[in-house]
Amino acid sequence: MLPPQPFIRRYHPDDKYSILMLEAEAFDERNPYEYLSFYEVFHDGFFVCTLGNDVVGFIVGYMLSESEGHIFSLAVSKFHRNQGIAERLVDHICTYFLLKGLQKASLEVRVSNKPAINLYTKLGFSAAWIESKYYSDGEDGYVMMANLNFYFFRKEEIKIFGKGKNGEKGVN
Ligand SMILES: CC(C)(COP(=O)(O)OP(=O)(O)OC[C@H]1O[C@@H](n2cnc3c(N)ncnc32)[C@H](O)[C@@H]1OP(=O)(O)O)[C@@H](O)C(=O)NCCC(=O)NCCS
Repeated sequence: MLPPQPFIRRYHPDDKYSILMLEAEAFDERNPYEYLSFYEVFHDGFFVCTLGNDVVGFIVGYMLSESEGHIFSLAVSKFHRNQGIAERLVDHICTYFLLKGLQKASLEVRVSNKPAINLYTKLGFSAAWIESKYYSDGEDGYVMMANLNFYFFRKEEIKIFGKGKNGEKGVN
């Protein structure tokens, strides 16, 4: 039998405890309960990735303005990292933003969070500016932005030609 494949769907209240566990595992410094209630406000842009019966990742985003979608949170369970799940989740929310007619996506990331910075850079986000002491422990954050109109075009370009205009390596 084939192993279960990643599947992305909207958050459902039955996912609550899986999300609380993922939140606690991914973000030591946050209160998972507080964040889950916040995410539920943005139900429309709250997606989970499942493998079989397990919720192994989630992403939450919302419309920041008429033209901009904001990725607020993203996490993948430690056991399922480095399998392309975060990339699928970011693709999914960018498709959702595009279908809403938005032109750009933004997010904040800790300057020390190399895995996330690499992920977003690979997907065409670039650091627009630094928010000094953005996080509660005093760490700075990069504000990263991507032009959604080129998002999937750029991914195809990298697949076909091996690298994008900015020199990112191909996914194959
Ligand atoms: C960041 C995070 C979401 C990545 O999830 P993931 O499912 O493992 O990521 P993917 O497998 O989709 O990786 C896609 C790309 O991200 C980058 N990346 C992911 N993990 C990385 C690591 N440990 N080191 C360096 N780059 C990494 C790579 O560019 C990778 O592409 P490649 O496989 O072609 O090299 C995950 O590590 C996580 O949940 N971290 C804790 C929470 C967090 O930091 N969230 C982001 C807040 S802004």
